[in-house]
Amino acid sequence: MKPEPGILHIAKNVILVSLALFICWTGAFYITRSAYSHIAWQPHELIAFLINAMLGFILFGLCITIIGPLVKGREYEFFNELIEALKRISRGDFRVNLDSTLAKRKGRQGHDHPFAQLVEGINDMAANLKVMEELRQEFISNVSHEIGSPLTSISGFARALKDTTMDQEKRDQYLTIIETECVRLSRLSDNLMKLAVLDSSEHASQQTSYRLDRQLVTLVLSCEPQWDDKKIEMNVELEEVEIVADKDLMIQVWINLIHNAIKFTPKGGKIDIFLTQSEDEVNVRITDTGPGIAPQDQPRIFERFYKADQSRTRTAGGSGLGLSIVQKIVEMHDGSVSVSSEPGEGAAFTVQLPICSV
Ligand SMILES: Nc1ncnc2c1ncn2[C@@H]1O[C@H](COP(=O)(O)OP(=O)(O)OP(=O)(O)O)[C@@H](O)[C@H]1O
Ligand SMILES: [Mg+2]
Repeated sequence: MKPEPGILHIAKNVILVSLALFICWTGAFYITRSAYSHIAWQPHELIAFLINAMLGFILFGLCITIIGPLVKGREYEFFNELIEALKRISRGDFRVNLDSTLAKRKGRQGHDHPFAQLVEGINDMAANLKVMEELRQEFISNVSHEIGSPLTSISGFARALKDTTMDQEKRDQYLTIIETECVRLSRLSDNLMKLAVLDSSEHASQQTSYRLDRQLVTLVLSCEPQWDDKKIEMNVELEEVEIVADKDLMIQVWINLIHNAIKFTPKGGKIDIFLTQSEDEVNVRITDTGPGIAPQDQPRIFERFYKADQSRTRTAGGSGLGLSIVQKIVEMHDGSVSVSSEPGEGAAFTVQLPICSV
């Protein structure tokens, strides 16, 4: 069996101390012997033993006094580096990467040793905080951009409207743009709010058992003005399926997917919605005849603020948060969402949910 590192450490220290005592006593013996021969005096055996022992102790004390600060110095150096690293992290400087041999320098061997694990733990913590900080910065710059562009356009058109000589048609056109941008800002704020609530661990999911097919029919009908306006053919084929899920959150999933399908499908296109149930899962598939999504964009469209085609989405007025909300909610239900698409041939989004009981 492999000896415990602690026992090894104690054994090593005992050997070192014994060796030091042995050297000190031997040194004391030769020093006193040469001193006696110099002064030509031979003390009594007991006196000689006591003088030898005292000198041995004095030499040993000297050794400790000299070596002690050196050992302590290494210990202080180790803890100072750790404390310095923690101070940098607390100041928001996450570029900390402690030398993994630091713990070994303190005289402890092996990656399993608590000091080595402490060094690795601090490095991991700094790396994770760095990633989170980068995400936060990216999030802030995305939000600023998403808020900034509609505000610029609102203020530009509002300024133009001050021109009293402008004809009514142009005036109406500018007002419509201002209204659209305001709606976009309010949807952005709504979506950010939803994400914040979903991200917070306090969000309590209200799981109930309900008929998914009925929920889908209601939502498709509520979107009728939008798809009817674009003369889109809506084909809905739903099996009778009962699921256990948070009903309100699931509404958000279907609305976001259906809205995307309507938004990206051109006039006169077609949208299919299928609901099927297998032994252990429920499948909802929403396909459209829109422009589709390029293969390199498909893995990224679920990222927050990601828009596959900036120019097209700009006119469509999205902020790139809808699918990340869908993914978040579906994953909260232990399900998955995926996309398959050929550019120019439409897109198909599939949501898979496990069948479970309340
Ligand atoms: N059915 C679809 N057809 C083609 N592209 C799509 C489709 N659904 C999503 N996308 C692409 O994925 C991107 C991300 O979609 P997402 O729903 O997250 O954002 P959005 O619709 O642009 O804005 P939001 O939903 O926040 O209003 C879209 O900008 C678009 O490029
Ligand atoms: Mg969307």
